[in-house]
Amino acid sequence: MKFTTRAIHAGQEPDPINGATILPIHPSSTFTQEEIGKFKGYEYSRTGNPTREALQKCLASLENGKYCRAFASGMAAASAILSLLVSGDHVIATEDIYGGTYRIFEWYRTHYNINFTYVDGSDPDNFLKVITAATKLIWIETPSNPLMQIVDIAAVAQICRDHNAFLTVDNTFATSYLQQPLKLGAQIVMYSTTKYINGHSDVVGGAAITNDIEILRALSYYQNMAGAVPSPFDCWLTLRGLKTLGIRMDRHQANARQIANILQQHRFVEKVYYPGLPKHPQHFLAKRQMKGFGGMISFRIHGGREQANRFFKNLKVFSFAESLGAVESLACYPSIMTHATIPKEKREARGITDGTIRLSVGIEDIDDLIGDLIEALEAAQREKQI
Ligand SMILES: Cc1ncc(COP(=O)(O)O)c(C=O)c1O
Repeated sequence: MKFTTRAIHAGQEPDPINGATILPIHPSSTFTQEEIGKFKGYEYSRTGNPTREALQKCLASLENGKYCRAFASGMAAASAILSLLVSGDHVIATEDIYGGTYRIFEWYRTHYNINFTYVDGSDPDNFLKVITAATKLIWIETPSNPLMQIVDIAAVAQICRDHNAFLTVDNTFATSYLQQPLKLGAQIVMYSTTKYINGHSDVVGGAAITNDIEILRALSYYQNMAGAVPSPFDCWLTLRGLKTLGIRMDRHQANARQIANILQQHRFVEKVYYPGLPKHPQHFLAKRQMKGFGGMISFRIHGGREQANRFFKNLKVFSFAESLGAVESLACYPSIMTHATIPKEKREARGITDGTIRLSVGIEDIDDLIGDLIEALEAAQREKQI
């Protein structure tokens, strides 16, 4: 079955007892057992829950993967993956990553003697240069948050294979609809399902998907032990959102492409970061490893914090808010929102300046989105002149 069919049906058979077409929400925390050791697959909902299992099956299927474990947030999924490490291990991560991921890496570095090296992910050789016998994990985000850098997944996967390390790809921006890291050689695909996977800004969730049974065992152990599991209701909402993932992504990226083109010609925009633009430094790599360029755009507004603030205040359709990947368009200010945990000097050295603005382009009517952005860009500079 093809992607959109699996998004609607995988893991969700009609109910065998009453025929309900739509999977029920199973809120039960416990499951009645027939006798000692005899039960119908579920004992306690931290360990396993039928609604969660359906979500896990659907997410694994969409990734062309075998196994999935769902978590209460993207960061809970990240913690589960980091639990595969032991003291003394070394991790290589791309510099341009979500601020919360950087925060958890720093926590592991300072509390658990795990060493991290950050590299510019645009060239696979940068990973080779710093890999050591202690390197156990390479962690990449592609496209990256917020500067839309593209990392060559197949090349980095090869480096991992050659050095006995495993590769985790945070696929939150692209989703399985546009990019399939397991096929390209990654061992784990990680998600903040809060974003495009759910797609409606009403759930916080996460997931890790793998084909490796040992990794599955470790993730399952951690899921049950740490207990950061999503509620059955959140799993159900995420499944409902997933059904339209393909058509939403098509619309997100059609809108984003038009907006990126307009922004790059606008006199008050200094730079646009969007892998769909031919002048993006990894445009051809993006074309090769992705099925489309997605709905995320970053840009640098002419001026700095003041102009950015006036831009945000003048938006009427876009909401000035954290998060991304939902049907409604959002604009965010990485330096004080999503990436505030990265020290200012490091952030600026990486290109996240006071003029950097990130857009999550929604699926509204494109004319309204373009009109809103242009009006806010003009107002941001006009008000300065008054
Ligand atoms: C790329 C990326 N990865 C991970 C996360 C963390 O996910 P969550 O907020 O669901 O914990 C985020 C959140 O913004 C993100 O953008």
